[in-house]
Amino acid sequence: MSGLKIGVVGATGMVGREYLSILEQSRLEIDRLRLFASQRSVGRQLPFHGDQLPVEEFTVEAARGLDVAFLSVSTELAREYAPKLAAAGTLVIDDSSAFRLADDVPLVVPEVNPEDVRHHRGIIAGPNCSTAQMVVVLAPLHRANGLRRVVVDTYQAASGAGKAAMDELIEHTRETLAGHSPEPRAHPHSLAFNLFPAVDSFRDDGYSNEEWKMLAETRKIMHLSDLCLSATCVRVPVPIGHSEAVHLEFDQPMDPRDARRLLEAAPGVVVVDDPRNGLYPQPALAAGRDPVYVGRIRADSSRPGGIALWIVADNVRKGAALNAVQIAELVFGTGRR
Ligand SMILES: NC(=O)c1ccc[n+]([C@@H]2O[C@H](COP(=O)([O-])OP(=O)(O)OC[C@H]3O[C@@H](n4cnc5c(N)ncnc54)[C@H](OP(=O)(O)O)[C@@H]3O)[C@@H](O)[C@H]2O)c1
Repeated sequence: MSGLKIGVVGATGMVGREYLSILEQSRLEIDRLRLFASQRSVGRQLPFHGDQLPVEEFTVEAARGLDVAFLSVSTELAREYAPKLAAAGTLVIDDSSAFRLADDVPLVVPEVNPEDVRHHRGIIAGPNCSTAQMVVVLAPLHRANGLRRVVVDTYQAASGAGKAAMDELIEHTRETLAGHSPEPRAHPHSLAFNLFPAVDSFRDDGYSNEEWKMLAETRKIMHLSDLCLSATCVRVPVPIGHSEAVHLEFDQPMDPRDARRLLEAAPGVVVVDDPRNGLYPQPALAAGRDPVYVGRIRADSSRPGGIALWIVADNVRKGAALNAVQIAELVFGTGRR
């Protein structure tokens, strides 16, 4: 195949804009890149390789002829558009939750289950951002010693809820410092100088849908249908970068030194773990970078043989746009730089 005709749908959003810098560094052979968003964004231009690319209004008809569409819109719009794009012959790589658990849609994190891309029928999904960074760390440990149970508490950045939510954090921080009490619009509560254990809507069993997605998506990606996992997802006043405190149990006791050795050799993972010298993963250091950072690797004092650790990654990159570009690189066999 000569160069690819690629579209980013939702190009003006939090994730959409990140695609541009990631595609600039990708080995995908790009013949033409087209940017789509809603009618509101027509007239805007976004930079790519020194040029300014126009934002076009998305319609299925306008996007006809694309080889690949990175679909980065709401779940509702993805549900409507992805099957139509796929039916027109475009490979859709979807960031939303619309198809993640569908039997005929692979849910892929290339460091974990690259072989699953082979079974696609026109749509491939990327996971929820909290799940993506976590499974990159769980997979190499599980390959060495079967994973039985995961307890994870997340500290999720405002940008995980989209650009409007990140902008609201900045605006509310300014307004609160000025003595005002701003009204939340993009978040359920003001996030300035605050946090809340509510990411996505709540289910009858008391978990939020974000927490439930972490369970269901981890099971699917890791091919571990019986994995025990309990998540508590918390939104924190950080612009970019999700953090996770994770406790793990395995078939056999795991020595933290073995866990560290396995993680140091794992693709996509960088170990930062010298806490006495102030070295541990932090969202401000992970923002704008590709790796999943892990540190605070230690024996779980509450469970002999268990491991506790701390995972941080850029939710917009590995949590969405980078993962999707890696999927395209897998499909088209180009690998990463
Ligand atoms: N943010 C994250 O960390 C993250 C991580 C993993 C997955 N995801 C998923 O990725 C998707 C995008 O999230 P986001 O955070 O980037 O959201 P966002 O910042 O709110 O961006 C939404 C994008 O959708 C576009 N859009 C809205 N209506 C449209 C229409 N009718 N036709 C075409 N485009 C339309 C918007 O364009 P306008 O600017 O023109 O309105 C904007 O570009 C969501 O499904 C989300 O769940 C996000």
